Amino acid sequence: MTNILNENYRNAKIFFDKAKKDYIYSGKKKYIDLSFASGTAILGHSSTIQTKIFKDFTKKNLSLFAPNKYTLDLLKTLKKFLPDHYTNIIFCNTGTEAVIKSLRISRAISDKKVIANVSGSWHGSVDQLLYMPKKNLLPRQISDGLNKDDKKNLIFIPYNNIIETKQILDKVKKKLACVIIEPIQGSLPNEISFNYLKFLHNYTKKNKIILVFDEMITGVRTGCKSVQEIYKLKPDISTFGKIFGGGMPIGFLALNNKISKKIKKRKLNIHFGGTFTSNPFTMYSSNETLKYIYKNKNKIFKKIEKYSKIFQESINDFCLKNELDIKVYRFQSMLRIIFTKDKINNRFQRDQLEKNKNLKIENFKNFLLQKKIYYPNNGIIFFSNQSSKENLNYLLKNFKIGLKKYFG
Ligand SMILES: Cc1ncc(COP(=O)(O)O)c(C=O)c1O
Repeated sequence: MTNILNENYRNAKIFFDKAKKDYIYSGKKKYIDLSFASGTAILGHSSTIQTKIFKDFTKKNLSLFAPNKYTLDLLKTLKKFLPDHYTNIIFCNTGTEAVIKSLRISRAISDKKVIANVSGSWHGSVDQLLYMPKKNLLPRQISDGLNKDDKKNLIFIPYNNIIETKQILDKVKKKLACVIIEPIQGSLPNEISFNYLKFLHNYTKKNKIILVFDEMITGVRTGCKSVQEIYKLKPDISTFGKIFGGGMPIGFLALNNKISKKIKKRKLNIHFGGTFTSNPFTMYSSNETLKYIYKNKNKIFKKIEKYSKIFQESINDFCLKNELDIKVYRFQSMLRIIFTKDKINNRFQRDQLEKNKNLKIENFKNFLLQKKIYYPNNGIIFFSNQSSKENLNYLLKNFKIGLKKYFG
C-alpha cells in the first residue's frame, strides 16, 4: 500500500466523491459543507454556471499550452476586480507559487535578503516562510527540510502592535527585501487591523521598502474587490488565487508600475514560467466565472455576508448567555470560531488561550461530523451562494448543542 503524506489525507476519516449545492457526499451520506474548498467555491458546488463553463470548454478540445487568447480575455476581466495601480500580472498555478515569486521579485529588485513577515499570517507552503514566531518573535521552523539561511533571513513583526513593529523595522529596514502580510488573517478574521495596515503602508512607502499584500482569501471575497481597495491602500505587489481560478488551481501576482519598470529598466532576469502557467482551461474557467460573479455581485455578496453575520451574531449571543468562553470572529464573509472570549490581538495570543482546549475542540468537531456537518480543517468557515436557509438553521441548532456540551 502506498500512503499519501499530505496533511489533509494523513488524518482523513471520510473520503468524498461528489459535491452539490451546499453538500459534499461520501457515497450515500451527505454533509453540509462549511469549507467550500477553503473558500474558493463561492458559488457553491456544481453550480449551473460552473457546470456549463466546464462543459463549454471541453467542446473547444484545447490542450494548448502556447500563449492563448483566454489569458488576454481574463486580463481584461481582471481590471474589474483589481485596483488600477497594478500594471502587470504574472500567472502561476497556486497561491504558494505566487508568494514564492513575490519574494523572488522583491529580492531581485532590492538586492537585499531579509523578509519581514507579520505574525499570524499564512502564506502557503513557501520554504522561506514556513516558520512561526516564538514569544520573543524569533522564528521557529514548522517543517523539516528547510534551509538554515531562510531562518536567518526572516524576521517577524507583531500583528496589530504598531509600536513594537516600528522598533523592529527601524533596526532592520536597510536589510529588508520586503514586508509581507496577509492583511485580514484567516487565523483571526476581523476588522481591527486597519490602523496597523495603514501604518505598514506608510512606513514602507516612506522607507522605500517593497510591501506585499497576500490577498489569497480576501481577493474577490471582499465584495468583488480586495482589502486594499476598501481600505484605500496601495501595496507594491499583491498575490491572489483561490476564487479567481473559477474552480481550477490558480495563483497570480499583480505588480505596480514602479516594480514593473524596475524589472524592465534593470533588465532583471527573474524566472516566472511553468508548464501549466496560464493554461487555457484555468484561464477560460476563471474568466467566465469572474464575469458571472461580477454580473451577480450584489446578490452573491449580500447573501453570503448575511448568512455569515447571522451565524456570528447568533452563536455569539448564545455563548454570552451561556457564559461559554468562545467568540466568533468575522471579516465580511470570512468566519472563525475562536475558543476564548478574552480580548486577543494576534494569533500567538489565540494559540496560547486555545492550547488547553485541543481535546475539547477535537470532540466538538467529531460531534459536528456525526451531525453530518463538515467543519473546515483550517478552521475558516465560509458560506456560499448555494448555502440554504434551512441548513443555516440546522447548523446553528447543532453548533449550539455541541458548544454547550463540550465547553459548557
Ligand atoms: C493567505 C494565503 N496565502 C497563500 C496561500 C497558499 O495558497 P495555495 O494553497 O493555493 O498554494 C493560502 C492558502 O491557504 C492562503 O490562505
